[in-house]
Amino acid sequence: MSKMSDDKPKFLIKSGKRLDGRKPDEVRPMEMTVGVIPNADGSAMVVCGKTKVIAAVYGPRELHPRHQVLNHKARVRVKYNMLSFSVEDRKRPGPGRREVEISKVLSEALERVVLTDRFPMCAIDVFVTVIQADASTRVAGLNAASMALADAGVPMRDLVVSLSFGKSYDEKGAGHMVVDLEKEEDNWGMGDVAYAVAPALNEILLLQMDGDLTPEEFAKGRQMADEAAKAIYDMQKQALKAPYQEGSK
Ligand code: CDP
Repeated sequence: MSKMSDDKPKFLIKSGKRLDGRKPDEVRPMEMTVGVIPNADGSAMVVCGKTKVIAAVYGPRELHPRHQVLNHKARVRVKYNMLSFSVEDRKRPGPGRREVEISKVLSEALERVVLTDRFPMCAIDVFVTVIQADASTRVAGLNAASMALADAGVPMRDLVVSLSFGKSYDEKGAGHMVVDLEKEEDNWGMGDVAYAVAPALNEILLLQMDGDLTPEEFAKGRQMADEAAKAIYDMQKQALKAPYQEGSK
C-alpha cells in the first residue's frame, strides 16, 4: 500500500538536509522537452521530481465564442487540468474552483509576455495537463506553457520561469527557507509561495502565498528563487534549442 502523505512528518529538515536529501536552495531533478504533442502547434513537458506536466498550445487561431473576441489583441486562454490519477486520492474529473483559479493566474502571467497585439481577434489556447502531481504543479505548468508557446513560434517578450519557495521546519522547530517544494513540504510547511518571473525583463508575473512569512523570510526566499530561476531559464532555452541541434526541426 502506498504511504499516505497525510502522515505528518516530525520535521522537514534534518542536519541541513530536506526529506529527499536536497539542500534548501536545491531544486528537484528536472527534465524539459518540447514537441511532445506533434499535432499541437507547440508543446512541452516538464518533469520536476515526481511532478509531471504537459502543455499544448493551439493558435493563434480564430476565437470562439465570438462575443469573447478582443478587437485589439489576442486572448491567451489557459485550461489547467489535473488528471484523476495524478494525485494519491483520486481527483474528481472536471474543473473545480482550484482549476479555475490556476487557469486564470497562468493566463494572466502568460498574457504579460506574449505579444498579443500582433494577433487581434484571435485566441491562443494553452492546455496544461498535470499527469502526476507532487506539489508545485502550477509553476511547473507555467514553465511548460511558456516553452510550448515558444515552440509554437508565438512571439514573446521573454520566457516565464516559475518555481515555488516556502518555509520548512527543522528538528529543533526552527524555520528555514527552501525552494521548489515537494508534496510534504507543501502540506506541512509553514508557508509557501508560487512565484514566476520574466528574467530578461526583470518582471514578476505570478505571486501567490499560503501561510505566514515575515518580510525578511519572504525576501530571503525570493532571493533563493531568483538564483534557482537562472538554472531553470537555461534549461528551458536548452530544451527549446534541442530539436534544431538534433535536426528534428
Ligand atoms: O500544485 P500546486 O502547488 O501549484 O497547487 P496546490 O493547490 O498548492 O496543491 C499542492 C499539491 O497538493 C498538488 O501539487 C498536489 O500534489 C496536491 N493536491 C492533491 O493531492 N489533490 C488535489 N485535489 C489538489 C492538490
